[in-house]
Amino acid sequence: MAASGGGRMSGVTITGLIKEFGGVAAVEQLDLDIAPGEFVTLLGPSGCGKTTTLRCLAGLEAPDRGELAIGERVVFSAARATFVPPDKRDVGMVFQSYGLWPHMTVGGNVGYPLKLAKVGKAEARRRVLEILEQVGLADRADEMATSLSGGQQQRVALARAMVNRPALMLYDEPLSNLDAKLRLSMRTQIRELHDALGSTSVYVTHDQEEAIALADRVVVMNAGRIEQVGSPRELYTRPANAFVADFMGFQNLLSGTVVDVAADGYVVDLAGATAAVRVAGRPPGPAGTPMAVAFRASHVRVDGQVPPPAVEGVSSSFTGRVRSRTYLGSCVRVLVDIGGELVRAQVDESELDRFGPDELSVGREVALGVPTARVVPLPGESSGQEAAPVSDLARAGSG
Ligand SMILES: Nc1ncnc2c1ncn2[C@@H]1O[C@H](COP(=O)(O)OP(=O)(O)OP(=O)(O)O)[C@@H](O)[C@H]1O
Ligand SMILES: [Mg+2]
Repeated sequence: MAASGGGRMSGVTITGLIKEFGGVAAVEQLDLDIAPGEFVTLLGPSGCGKTTTLRCLAGLEAPDRGELAIGERVVFSAARATFVPPDKRDVGMVFQSYGLWPHMTVGGNVGYPLKLAKVGKAEARRRVLEILEQVGLADRADEMATSLSGGQQQRVALARAMVNRPALMLYDEPLSNLDAKLRLSMRTQIRELHDALGSTSVYVTHDQEEAIALADRVVVMNAGRIEQVGSPRELYTRPANAFVADFMGFQNLLSGTVVDVAADGYVVDLAGATAAVRVAGRPPGPAGTPMAVAFRASHVRVDGQVPPPAVEGVSSSFTGRVRSRTYLGSCVRVLVDIGGELVRAQVDESELDRFGPDELSVGREVALGVPTARVVPLPGESSGQEAAPVSDLARAGSG
């Protein structure tokens, strides 16, 4: 086996990847280019094919079709019958379960890949201590791995995966067994190690916040396919469709119809034309075209006065009745009925002084406004299929 290069970066090219289990596709025709040194997260619900994609990259699964390249090297090609075994792919993997050998010390676990690679004892020890230093466990090298806490054991697993300085690091929900606070600090550490070691990383998670916090680019998957690829900010602010918007935590997804089209934007009627929002840009079609819009609860402006006072930038205004309100300390969540559909709004605690004593109570009429810049158009929603979870979401959202 080749000696570790240290700090090499390889990109990844996935072309037409298909992996089926018993005739059912777990990954369907996946194409993705990952740049050298990039940190990419695969985000999606349970069963969408995240782990399968990762295992195909690692060589733990043989795909049915497509091609995989790590750097310049093709590690799998169905057409050319190429399959490079896992230990020859120069990848490191960290799983949800730490997978440490209980009968070995911390140093023994971390050094195991070096032993397999027949690295000399002194050199191996040096490299083990160096990587343990980087995960903050250099002083624990001679303790039994099982005597460490969960978070420490996961850091040992990290060190073991990285000790060979692999060109590509693969992570499969490595933090999901840890408590919330530890997850946060480990998350930071993983990103710092990625930057320090100059590896390329593919990280699987179903946690939206984790995916956003870690990644240069997020890949949202659904049912074996990619829904959208983009920077964390692109995905958070401009989801391309209802699935991504829902997954990115947009509380309001409403179907509507294009009505007025003007030079600088257009208007979409919602809830049987009892409400309308202004959208910037070009409409997906002429007046009458069905589409959907998404906006966050925190971006809905609520006013107790009807009609509301004019607020700059908030051009879409409509009224509804308060269905429920929940005080959460930092804010009040308000569920408002507009023509039989529900809009979720959120009023910050610091804004509550704008309201009279009863102005947000259940049954009261309120005015809602959404800044044009915050309305995300979701074209092509004519199937109505994606609109279904929307009202469920709103209904479930009183808490
Ligand atoms: N070894 C296997 N045999 C049969 N079916 C499998 C196997 N591995 C995965 N699948 C199926 O492939 C699909 C994708 O599974 P995968 O483990 O990749 O999902 P995932 O996105 O990682 O989900 P999770 O978030 O729950 O880990 C699922 O429907 C799963 O049941
Ligand atoms: Mg999985």
